[in-house]
Amino acid sequence: MKVCLVTGGMGFIGCNFIRFLLETNEEIRIINVDKLTYAGNPENLKDIDKTYDFSYKFYKADICDFDFIDKLVRKETVNFIINFAAESHVDRSIDNPSICCDTNIFGAQTLLNVARKNKIEKFLQISTDEVYGSLGFEDPAFTEITSLSPNSPYSASKASADLLVRAYYKTFDLPINITRSSNNYGPYQFPEKLIPLMIHNALNDKPLPVYGEGINIRDWIHVKDNCEAILQVLNYGKIGEIYNIGGDSELQNIDLVKKILKILDKPDSLITFVKDRPGHDLRYAINHEKITNTLNWEPKISFDKGLELTIKWYLDNQNWLDNVISKEYLKYYEKLYGNR
Ligand code: NAD
Ligand code: DAU
Repeated sequence: MKVCLVTGGMGFIGCNFIRFLLETNEEIRIINVDKLTYAGNPENLKDIDKTYDFSYKFYKADICDFDFIDKLVRKETVNFIINFAAESHVDRSIDNPSICCDTNIFGAQTLLNVARKNKIEKFLQISTDEVYGSLGFEDPAFTEITSLSPNSPYSASKASADLLVRAYYKTFDLPINITRSSNNYGPYQFPEKLIPLMIHNALNDKPLPVYGEGINIRDWIHVKDNCEAILQVLNYGKIGEIYNIGGDSELQNIDLVKKILKILDKPDSLITFVKDRPGHDLRYAINHEKITNTLNWEPKISFDKGLELTIKWYLDNQNWLDNVISKEYLKYYEKLYGNR
């Protein structure tokens, strides 16, 4: 049985991926390493802990800790490493650019060193479409050969990690893949991100803070579709290759926010236009022909269906939402939105 080390598995995409893997592939053991930052929530996998005694194990640790990860990889006889761990929020990276560098760059490099030393069968780096920068309204979507042009401290740190991953492949023959997906949405997403933040505020009749004029476009993908794509790349991705993953669902922020209000039967008057994000990327759009043509993957969940399911999940799990709204989150919210 193969053993897969998943980093950042208590976060949004990581916990969805672990659930997906355990439900679909019994031939794998999962070792989850997470530092449990504000974004890592053990509640996300509480039921999994109990159900999958043999095939799932959690360790609280930092991916920057070479000695710990190195020993763990040998102890658990790890075959694959999938690196989800990151400081993932653009606004936090603007408030404090340094936070991204340790985990997103140094952490990734530490894992690459472990992977190299232990002759890991595949190192899969979970990256983002943001490394390509921003598109104009009429530009063609990003392909894997679009040049890297990151605009935020967050995306610059993710692009740096991608370059290190490539370098370990070219220089040391480390077997790698990189996935670059567009904006994910779905259950267990921390409410600092657009969709859960708007759902939470709307449910509480609080203003919905839309940056600038709300004209920015994101290409939304349901997290389950992304998990399926990641598994395809883990199993069948050609060594050394990068794969774009997109949802074929481009939408302006303002239209998305109005959809949420409509589903929740709340008035558009809750929308408040606030000062724009500095360096705000205008548009992301993913061309996913490569993974579709070579690995036979395409997104299955339409945005309208996915949004409906997501809102239902947050309505059914209001306890989860209330529990993650900690003092730290309220302080963060006040600082970011207080005088916008
Ligand atoms: P998230 O912020 O929800 O979760 C990140 C997880 O990493 C948390 O559990 C956190 O505790 C953990 N972590 C942070 N620093 C760590 C460290 N030093 N050591 C160990 N664990 C650490 O993020 P997410 O939205 O689930 O994103 C996961 C990955 O996918 C990230 O690499 C992100 O860049 C990438 N990505 C995200 C999206 C998206 O829309 N959310 C889209 C494309 C790519
Ligand atoms: O594209 C992939 C990326 O998507 C990932 O790499 C990042 O980890 C993830 O955070 C996400 O980045 P974005 O900046 O696109 O996501 P966010 O949810 O922060 O914002 C989505 C859009 O909504 C963006 O145009 C900014 C806008 N926005 C966001 C917030 C939080 C608002 O208008 N108001 C808000 O309060």
